[in-house]
Amino acid sequence: MARQKHLIAPSLLAADFTNLKKDIEMINASEADWLHLDVMDGVFVPNISFGMSIIKQLRPICTKVFDVHLMIENPSDYIEAFVDAGAEVISVHYEACTHLHRVIQQIKAAGAKASVAINPHTPASALDDVLEDLDMVLVMSVNPGFGGQKFIYRALEKCRYLREQITIRNLNTRIQVDGGVGLQNAEAVLKAGADVLVSGSAVFKSSHPADTIAKLKHIDPHSLLV
Ligand code: DX5
Ligand code: ZN
Repeated sequence: MARQKHLIAPSLLAADFTNLKKDIEMINASEADWLHLDVMDGVFVPNISFGMSIIKQLRPICTKVFDVHLMIENPSDYIEAFVDAGAEVISVHYEACTHLHRVIQQIKAAGAKASVAINPHTPASALDDVLEDLDMVLVMSVNPGFGGQKFIYRALEKCRYLREQITIRNLNTRIQVDGGVGLQNAEAVLKAGADVLVSGSAVFKSSHPADTIAKLKHIDPHSLLV
């Protein structure tokens, strides 16, 4: 299956929460494909962010696909509520799901694309038996919980492994990389096989966020595959 054009998913976590409307308007006018929404419960990760009511309020003012990253325990209790709030892609953590296969089917039955996130300590091969069921794999390149952390390079090896599996099995599962991604390493991430880049601080803390999004979008992965 042909490699798909990569997507850019700015992470709202790094936005200005005193003026979210301004940042959403910037995203709407930018070349971003998705808006990445980080939901944290203070249990699965040592931080608390926002939940479905904020997502539901943002839905009518944002034109991009809502990519919801659930860093929560018991995600199966909330899947339908997040779809109802506007989630179109939902990532649950491998480490938070005892019955992962069931949760993946639940996400699809609720009408969203299903993705599983793996923490830095989880091998990509842990997803071998569910890869066919997934629309996307989210490779964490930091420990989840906070924006602005340093990229863990081991994530590239996981992308290479997953890309090989996806190619061998003729799937069109996407590979998303999340944490510490910016202009300094995006080429390497794409070259390793990723095709969705999440970027929080590197976008929102830059002097021209829309330009940074455009630069990330215009990297040509084909020219890198030499
Ligand atoms: C971390 C979140 C990330 C975060 C990325 O737990 O999952 O999506 O917002 O932020 P940066 O790009 O600043 O590392
Ligand atoms: Zn995230």
